[in-house]
Amino acid sequence: MLKALSLALISLALIPALSTASDAVSTNADSMLRGEKLYKSACIACHGTGAANAPVLGNKKAWAPIIEQGMDKIISVALHGKGAMPARGGTKADDATLRAAVEYMISRAQ
Ligand code: HEC
Repeated sequence: MLKALSLALISLALIPALSTASDAVSTNADSMLRGEKLYKSACIACHGTGAANAPVLGNKKAWAPIIEQGMDKIISVALHGKGAMPARGGTKADDATLRAAVEYMISRAQ
């Protein structure tokens, strides 16, 4: 009896924790998907092929020194451009979507 009661209490305590966790995951998945979409509609032109010497998606060696600079620096380059990298990758993407695309690219290089 006591055991059943404590099991019931434990599962009650777990329910909110589990639903919070899955909310966080689905938000991340949504933003990742938006990033992947932007990547595939725009960034892929250079980052899929290495055109203009762009670091290629999934090329760990090319991305390692970029990742080392830290996210703030990387986002700033993505927003403002650098060399042959156009500001916002030549798109009108908003900050959040651009960041999602950068996070998608970084996730593929780790
Ligand atoms: C016209 C070609 C081109 C397009 C389109 C493009 N990039 Fe780039 N990107 C480059 C080149 C070239 C570099 C390397 C710049 C350098 O280091 O001089 C670069 C570098 C980067 C970097 C590394 C920044 C750093 O800190 O060195 C990120 C992140 C990046 N691009 C994100 C994006 C995203 C996100 C998109 C799409 C929204 C995009 N790029 C579209 C050419 C492009």
